[in-house]
Amino acid sequence: MKFTNNYKEKIREIVKDKNLTYYIDTMGCSMNENDSSKYSGILESMGFKKEFDEKKANLILFNTCCIRENAENTLFGRLGSLKKEKINNEDKYIVIVGCMTQQKHIIDKIKTSYKFVDIVLGTGAMSIFPLKLYNVLKNKKTDIEYIDVTNEVEEDIPIKYDDKFRASVSIIYGCNNFCSYCIVPYVRGRERSRKKEDILNDIKRLAKNGYKEVMLLGQNVNSYGNDFKDINYNFPKLLQDIEKIDGIEIIRFMSPHPKDFSDELIEVIKNSKKIARQIHLPLQSGSTRILKEMNRRHTKEDYLKIVEKLKSIDDNISISTDIIVGFPGETDEDFKETLDVVKKVKFDQIYMFIYSKRVGTRAEKMEDNTSNNEKVKRLEKIKEVYEKYLPDNNKKMIGKVYKVLVEGKSKNNENLYTGRTSQNKVVIFEGNEEVVGKIVNVKIISQHLWYLKGKIEV
Ligand code: SAH
Ligand code: SF4
Ligand code: F3S
Repeated sequence: MKFTNNYKEKIREIVKDKNLTYYIDTMGCSMNENDSSKYSGILESMGFKKEFDEKKANLILFNTCCIRENAENTLFGRLGSLKKEKINNEDKYIVIVGCMTQQKHIIDKIKTSYKFVDIVLGTGAMSIFPLKLYNVLKNKKTDIEYIDVTNEVEEDIPIKYDDKFRASVSIIYGCNNFCSYCIVPYVRGRERSRKKEDILNDIKRLAKNGYKEVMLLGQNVNSYGNDFKDINYNFPKLLQDIEKIDGIEIIRFMSPHPKDFSDELIEVIKNSKKIARQIHLPLQSGSTRILKEMNRRHTKEDYLKIVEKLKSIDDNISISTDIIVGFPGETDEDFKETLDVVKKVKFDQIYMFIYSKRVGTRAEKMEDNTSNNEKVKRLEKIKEVYEKYLPDNNKKMIGKVYKVLVEGKSKNNENLYTGRTSQNKVVIFEGNEEVVGKIVNVKIISQHLWYLKGKIEV
């Protein structure tokens, strides 16, 4: 479906007249960050100016997440603190979009306790945003009704990235996997792949505008193309086509699912000069029994086998992951299996979460006897083991030269510059403004757990 904005000019007039500004608060994952760039694009195409101070902004857009319970508490806390200002200022507008709005109980709560919200909009429904906004700006007609997940693919949405050198591009929306703990399939709808032409054109345009790095996004990027009926085109083929685009130097993707990590994909990574030597491969649990309960459809051994294959391409490849501790019924023995994988893989980064019960998922009904105290202990144990091995990975890099995309000045030291290697390791080094946005060779001198120090090689 093509995004068209029939209200652009009418809204432009009102915005110009009142000099309206916007502020976006993004919660959740990269998918939401990408959606927020689209909301920025839509709002700026209608004349809204970006405001960095939330208090001063006229329109506040909350792009919400509901992957874990605390996200809900955060949103309602924020809304509560805005109430007074909203009621006293007729040019203050509150818009709520994103995953949380696809849950009926959330909409009911907004309708009863936060009536001052102007617009609620679900995922994949940006096309109707201009109409709703026009109704609010022109006629003070608010709309906080629940709408079902649309399962649309919306194309040609204006997009405004904050970054000048790296950009994220969604390749597939939704999820069909129904992992038993996860809310995403309910709030993001079924898997739908974007047409390869639309993706390639977006990336060509980015390259033309000076972007060097792309991050391909999807809940399960390696199911890309499974929904194509007439053509035989999949994720490895898409990667090969992106590789041919001049100007793009680094290709990353997130997240691949271990169950779909084919040998064809490994071969493409091996032969690529652009695919980053960093793979984010969510583990969730190292216990095959728990993985089965989670409906992940792979075993501990399958996971370790993929890692072994990736490391055989390049011993220096960095592996990052997501782990959930305290899934219902997770025993000490199960947890030891997770620790065993952490020890064997020596992850470069781990996003660790304590299991959070989500309404409507299969795991919601599962019995959970582990105390929160014990779960916190497990989380700390993972952190301890991970940090023990991390320097080993970093040390391997000392003395070698890596290509680094320079992002800008280091936040902590005005005289130093910062960038990332293909392995996604942060490096700081002496430089000058001329290298910003360029790819330079940096020799690694020392490691400091969370970052490396280096020197530009000329
Ligand atoms: N599609 C990705 C994950 C997206 S959600 C994948 O399949 O790997 C991001 C991460 O949030 C997940 O990898 C998982 O570790 C975590 N997560 C999802 N649901 C959760 C829940 N109910 N409680 C705690 N963590 C959860
Ligand atoms: Fe959630 Fe599983 Fe889909 Fe990832 S693959 S979004 S964890 S259901
Ligand atoms: Fe959250 Fe939705 Fe992403 S629930 S993690 S923002 S897909």
